[in-house]
Amino acid sequence: MNLKNFFPIGDPRLDDDHRRLELAIDVLASSQAQDRLTALHDLRQAAAAHFESEDADLSCMADGNAKCHVDEHAEVLKSLDEVRLELASPKRDEVFKAALTRRLAEQLADWLPMHVREIDAALVKFRVAQRFGGVPVTLAIRANTVVPGLIETLRASPSFPDGLLSP
Ligand SMILES: [Fe+2]
Ligand SMILES: [Fe+2]
Repeated sequence: MNLKNFFPIGDPRLDDDHRRLELAIDVLASSQAQDRLTALHDLRQAAAAHFESEDADLSCMADGNAKCHVDEHAEVLKSLDEVRLELASPKRDEVFKAALTRRLAEQLADWLPMHVREIDAALVKFRVAQRFGGVPVTLAIRANTVVPGLIETLRASPSFPDGLLSP
């Protein structure tokens, strides 16, 4: 179990979810050919459930940045679905699938703590304000997200083998 990136933000439900997501990313990172799709499926399930829960709170926020937060969740799920298609493709060999999985896990391991620290933390303040009264906070959205556009990012990576991600 590797929780080196875990960043608690003081909301037990969200902290539990984020811990679960980090563990699911670790499982994906260490998965082998026979359990790779299952690990990706489990991660997607955990992510979708967590994002749905956050999105419900975000829909109550009048702040325009709430939409950016919702959109970032959707982009992550889209990236996971894109990678699932590649992993399920008979046209892709084991070297490609192992490399793609490793890169996805690395990207997500970088993305999750950043997202939690910079975006979800503001949502927690809003949740507290909703419960106890106060002024909703403004969410700070990063200029660039790591996971959205994952396939394009991988294609541009100099360390990724040429041609592996060609359509
Ligand atoms: Fe979150
Ligand atoms: Fe979030």
